Amino acid sequence: MLKKFNLFHSILGIFFKNRPYDEKMVEISEQEYAVRAIVLDDIKDLLSIEREVYAGELPWTKTAFLVELQSPDPHLYLLIQKNNQTIGFIGCRIFGSDAHITNVAVLTKEQGKGIGSFLIREIQQFAKANNCETISLEVRLSNKNAQRVYRQLGFLSNTIKPNYYTEDKEDALEMILYLKEV
Ligand SMILES: CC(C)(COP(=O)(O)OP(=O)(O)OC[C@H]1O[C@@H](n2cnc3c(N)ncnc32)[C@H](O)[C@@H]1OP(=O)(O)O)[C@@H](O)C(=O)NCCC(=O)NCCS
Repeated sequence: MLKKFNLFHSILGIFFKNRPYDEKMVEISEQEYAVRAIVLDDIKDLLSIEREVYAGELPWTKTAFLVELQSPDPHLYLLIQKNNQTIGFIGCRIFGSDAHITNVAVLTKEQGKGIGSFLIREIQQFAKANNCETISLEVRLSNKNAQRVYRQLGFLSNTIKPNYYTEDKEDALEMILYLKEV
């Protein structure tokens, strides 16, 4: 009986882990948004968000997005739209028991409304469904704004990774959220 029960749970686990992310409407700060999984055709919109939030620079190229979206590792890439315009996105990839947030950005005029926090909470659900113990990310040491958002969500500062960013050699702060504690 126990064996049968375990088998049933394993099958259920596989089903939930591989379940596609269903598009949905959400309300954040009394405004309606659509959230869905990113497809390859969305990359041009993601690049233009990056250009806007990083003042013309492109931390990620088209190839970087392609590699992530086609990764064999479990991953979740989501975008959020207001009136059919993509205003933000997030991505994560699972390595063992850690879900690593690889990228997150919200258009400047839409920041401070709870959108980034919402997207991180969606990743939290995905990480839990995949039995992850932690969520991690790297953030520029100078990016105090983003660090504050992560801290409010329960992320703790971990190690400093020296010269992490190849363009200007800025250090990164690694931050970790322990899922058992949230
Ligand atoms: C970092 C980033 C993704 C956060 O997204 P965001 O949508 O601005 O984050 P949130 O709105 O959830 O949180 C930001 C602030 O808004 C506040 N906020 C949350 N919900 C809110 C609401 N309903 N109304 C008003 N403010 C709200 C948060 O409390 C937080 O307050 P704080 O400034 O006192 O810390 C976004 O600022 C961004 O794209 N930055 C540029 C790119 C970047 O740095 N990416 C991260 C690289 S590691």
